[in-house]
Amino acid sequence: MRLLFVGDVVGRTGRRVLLETLPRLRKRYALDFVIVNGENAAGGFGITEAILGEFLEAGADCVTLGNHAFDQKDALVFIDRQPRLVRPLNLPKGTPGRGAGLYKAANGADVLVINALGRVFMNEMDCPFRAIDAEVTACKLKQGADAIFIDFHAEATSEKQSAGHFLDGRVSAVIGTHTHAPTSDHRVMRGGTAYMSDAGMTGDYDSVLGMDITEPVHRFLTRIPNERFTPADGAATLAGAAIDIDDKTGLATAIMPVRLGGVLAPTEPLAWIEREI
Ligand SMILES: [Fe+2]
Ligand SMILES: [Fe+2]
Repeated sequence: MRLLFVGDVVGRTGRRVLLETLPRLRKRYALDFVIVNGENAAGGFGITEAILGEFLEAGADCVTLGNHAFDQKDALVFIDRQPRLVRPLNLPKGTPGRGAGLYKAANGADVLVINALGRVFMNEMDCPFRAIDAEVTACKLKQGADAIFIDFHAEATSEKQSAGHFLDGRVSAVIGTHTHAPTSDHRVMRGGTAYMSDAGMTGDYDSVLGMDITEPVHRFLTRIPNERFTPADGAATLAGAAIDIDDKTGLATAIMPVRLGGVLAPTEPLAWIEREI
């Protein structure tokens, strides 16, 4: 089966590139399942029910979140009637919504999607390793699910890599989100799990993490907040990862980074580097 993951969609420009591109990608590449991280979709902070509806309509099968899950307070209410919205698994007991969901893919496969928060340089949470372990033990690959996808939302690369190794061979993919800058360490690990430290964000890369550069630069220079962060509104790049999964084993056979449009579109290779290679 063929799965597409789209990294954190930031603001209007990120939403626009997703809504314009996804229906075409879905058709052209015969995608079986699409996961979109939507934690920054509403003005950079959280998601609204209307935006969630647009993402699902455009071809997302489910939408994951992160530390910004409930920045739009309405989400605390509507998440309970939106089974395709997945918030972090390791939030305190009693948090509305779900941290894992089992969904039907276009090819008939059952896909388990889990969203978890890291704890290094982030707020205190329950242990994401134990929380994910409990879920994938209760719903094992090829027993409870045909494919298992983990969106590991964390700041530290070491924590994401450790999650990858911890789950290698037991899940189809562990893909990092939250740092908003795509990494080039995508690969299929020894046990057959596709891994990438960060999928990158879907938004304007001529920015600081998708936000207009003025306020973040001001805050680093002065340590004084001046105004709210606002999403940068230039041309956006759709960033993420495409993964091929073996129908028999549920493990990955290939992973490829996806970067479409905006300033991250592939550039011409340098002639002098090409000669070296
Ligand atoms: Fe994010
Ligand atoms: Fe985040």
